Amino acid sequence: MDKQRIDRFISNQLGISRSAVRTGIRRGLARVNGECVKDCAASLVPGKDAVIYGGNEISYKEYVYIVLNKPAGIICASRDKTQKTVLDLVPEEYKKRRLSAVGRLDKDTTGLLIITDDGDFAHRCISPKSDIEKSYIVGLDGDINGDIVAAFGEGVTLADGYRCKPAFLESVGERRARVVITEGKYHQVKRMFGVFGLGVVSLHRESVGKLKLPENLGEGECVEVPDIAEMMGL
Ligand code: URA
Repeated sequence: MDKQRIDRFISNQLGISRSAVRTGIRRGLARVNGECVKDCAASLVPGKDAVIYGGNEISYKEYVYIVLNKPAGIICASRDKTQKTVLDLVPEEYKKRRLSAVGRLDKDTTGLLIITDDGDFAHRCISPKSDIEKSYIVGLDGDINGDIVAAFGEGVTLADGYRCKPAFLESVGERRARVVITEGKYHQVKRMFGVFGLGVVSLHRESVGKLKLPENLGEGECVEVPDIAEMMGL
């Protein structure tokens, strides 16, 4: 691990402004390996040197993995001039990191969204080679039948001629279905049902691979999942 300036390290790890950290360092709030450090330009080795700030040890994390229960009405972008984005819902302590959403959910889609600053992990998640199953509960404006289930299993051909990979489809109630796909084309689920004249009235992602949306995570809430890669077998 490369050396890092102490002010940058503390600011990034704790999500507090660089200027506030500098003031704290000058006042003697920082200790590295037991020694008080008042020089904001001093360097340390993240993960190796023990850093205490304001009496609390900083447990170093190279990357963070956050699961958000995305509410409807929020866009999956890093920032937007007019609309609220999923990154606006991330707790302040993570905001100094270069976070992005892993893949995209439509503005009106709810449920499980992974947010991370680990680009390699994100890439592995969305790579078509990974074949990760994404499971959705879909509210429809009509009912599915055996022919539609069979067509999903064969691979639906979308209006633009793209042939989707085989998908699992089952009814889970009146005008409600579970669909499991292994790709992530633009508006894919909506377009798949559209082929059969069915409109999607609600769309909720319940899992990505082995990772399920935690039941106790309310809409708009986030939870950090440090061992996400092992959990997902990635
Ligand atoms: N398919 C869609 O149509 N929309 C989503 O948000 C996700 C999958």
